[in-house]
Amino acid sequence: MAKKPLAEDSTSSFPARARGRGVHIAPSILSANFADMRSSLVAMRQAGCRWTHIDVMDGHFVPNLTFGPGFVEAIRAVGKDFYFDVHLMITNPRDFVKPFAAAGAQCITFHQEAAGDDSTNLLRYIRRQGLQAGISIRPRTPVSALTPHLTHADLVLVMTVEPGYGGQKLIPGTLNKVRELALLREEHALSFLIQVDGGIGPETAQLAVAAGSDVLVAGSAVFRGGKVKENVKAIRKTISEMR
Ligand code: DX5
Ligand code: ZN
Repeated sequence: MAKKPLAEDSTSSFPARARGRGVHIAPSILSANFADMRSSLVAMRQAGCRWTHIDVMDGHFVPNLTFGPGFVEAIRAVGKDFYFDVHLMITNPRDFVKPFAAAGAQCITFHQEAAGDDSTNLLRYIRRQGLQAGISIRPRTPVSALTPHLTHADLVLVMTVEPGYGGQKLIPGTLNKVRELALLREEHALSFLIQVDGGIGPETAQLAVAAGSDVLVAGSAVFRGGKVKENVKAIRKTISEMR
């Protein structure tokens, strides 16, 4: 029997280029060379990556500061062929949707912990700007905090480390939430993508994909030693060995 969607809003609107087939590796430019972003994007392109993951931190929601819309606009100019995936780790996400949309973001993901009861409205607001809308949870937040909002999400980001810094170790228990979300998605015939972020490298990529992840964010494992092509290849190899 065909499963019915939970609500009218469940159709994902990812452009084919971003959705593609199989698992995507989304390099987190947090680990790129800030003094030479153009070359970092060239290296990502040569490695066959279609996504670029941009970690926006405000020094409040997380104890670190990173990029604003001006930076995104600048790298957009040299990375028009990428799918710009902006991860807002900020306390007032609604205020920055329009500025980041104008700067060239294509998907904007905010944290459920920051938006609370406004999460559904915020997902709809992001979609109304013509963007894909994502919602994320920190390692300690349960999937139940997301369920009222899932029908309005194009992407669900499960943080596999405490947000704030690159180079941390994946917290294995977080992958149970990926499994839970994959089941919910199937049960309710939803179509959001599941993204994981933090501590993803060749070994953990296998675990994340086995749990049901569609998009793997990786920073240090992609940019390590400046060997982006080799590093991405190593991650892809471990994933393909699973099949
Ligand atoms: C953490 C960021 C991640 C980070 C991942 O707050 O959201 O995107 O860059 O870095 P790695 O892959 O080094 O764990
Ligand atoms: Zn991120």
